[in-house]
Amino acid sequence: MAEKAVFTKEELDRYYENMKKDHLGPLWHDLGHMVTKEPVHDVKPYLWKWKTIREYAIQSGKMLEPGKDAERRVVYLQNPSLLERGLVGYGTHTLYAGIQLLLPGESAPSHHHSQSAIRFIIEGDGAYTAVNGQKIFMERGDMILTPAWTWHEHKHEGTEPMFWLDGLDVGLVRTLAASFFEPYEEESYPEIPLEHYSAEQFSKGSFKKLNETVKPGYPSPIFGYKFERVKYLLNEMDMEDYDEYDAFAIEYINPATGGSADSRIGTMMQKLPSGKHTKAHRHVHSAIYHVLEGSGYTVIDGQKFEWEKGDFFILPPWSYHEHVNTGEGDVFLFSFNDKPVMEKLELEFGESYKENGGRQSVTSTFTPYTNA
Ligand SMILES: [Fe+2]
Ligand SMILES: [Fe+2]
Repeated sequence: MAEKAVFTKEELDRYYENMKKDHLGPLWHDLGHMVTKEPVHDVKPYLWKWKTIREYAIQSGKMLEPGKDAERRVVYLQNPSLLERGLVGYGTHTLYAGIQLLLPGESAPSHHHSQSAIRFIIEGDGAYTAVNGQKIFMERGDMILTPAWTWHEHKHEGTEPMFWLDGLDVGLVRTLAASFFEPYEEESYPEIPLEHYSAEQFSKGSFKKLNETVKPGYPSPIFGYKFERVKYLLNEMDMEDYDEYDAFAIEYINPATGGSADSRIGTMMQKLPSGKHTKAHRHVHSAIYHVLEGSGYTVIDGQKFEWEKGDFFILPPWSYHEHVNTGEGDVFLFSFNDKPVMEKLELEFGESYKENGGRQSVTSTFTPYTNA
């Protein structure tokens, strides 16, 4: 091997400076920053109180009207750690969460986009989401899909304000530079007459014509997932089904594939009976949680996030987490995540917390910022 020449510090500095000016870089310095030993990210956990979100949503109801002053009337959750990086509307690096308010008699016009979306109903009834002309009435706890590119609109035929969560893969689609949006040429997409519903549903969901070829795929033949069925299923589960990290948990699926209900956004409901404390684990996928029922806390990388009914919190990627029910009744936690994407890209990986019997030590307790 030829002997290496010896360079002075000045010569080396000049070399690196010139290299930089020519927009080149020395991998021997930077490999460790580029190909890290573990996931590195800027997503910090955060928690929002339902009381605060609801108040802002109610105020927006007095300020503007959907379809007139705004495409949608939505208050979104802004993760402060991502706003620092100029990422507006980010809950995690991939996921967005917004709280939409629709008042009696109002409607939000039809549009479609390349982002996938799920809805989770928080309060009220009598409003519906129409997906490609199919009306799905919304009740508390229901989950509704509006998969990428499906035409969707909302209309409220009830008497009380209606609040729901919109979950979209905004960050993911932006990172992939794949965002497209288009309003429908009219206010409403043509409605499928109600009398055709069962026929439509059966042919797509449960039956096929003798000579018809059905391709398993997306979007799911089902757009609406009722909470009463989710609850029934969770209540039927026994200790054999108990998961030490997620307690009693179900995932919403697309019956045509057996995979996640939406092709890119995963959805899950967990039930924690009173007193249950799960073990900690971490995984590549990130999630946004909504507390449907109950009270307790989640420990995320040693920090305690106390929650009660209606609250939202961020679970960043690759962060140890465990959930505790401190209340009297069952806790129901709804969450949506980017797991289907991580799995498709063969990037999903997880591990359990090894020390202390699988439970983290709490080093601090989170308090959300409040103007009040
Ligand atoms: Fe939309
Ligand atoms: Fe988890």
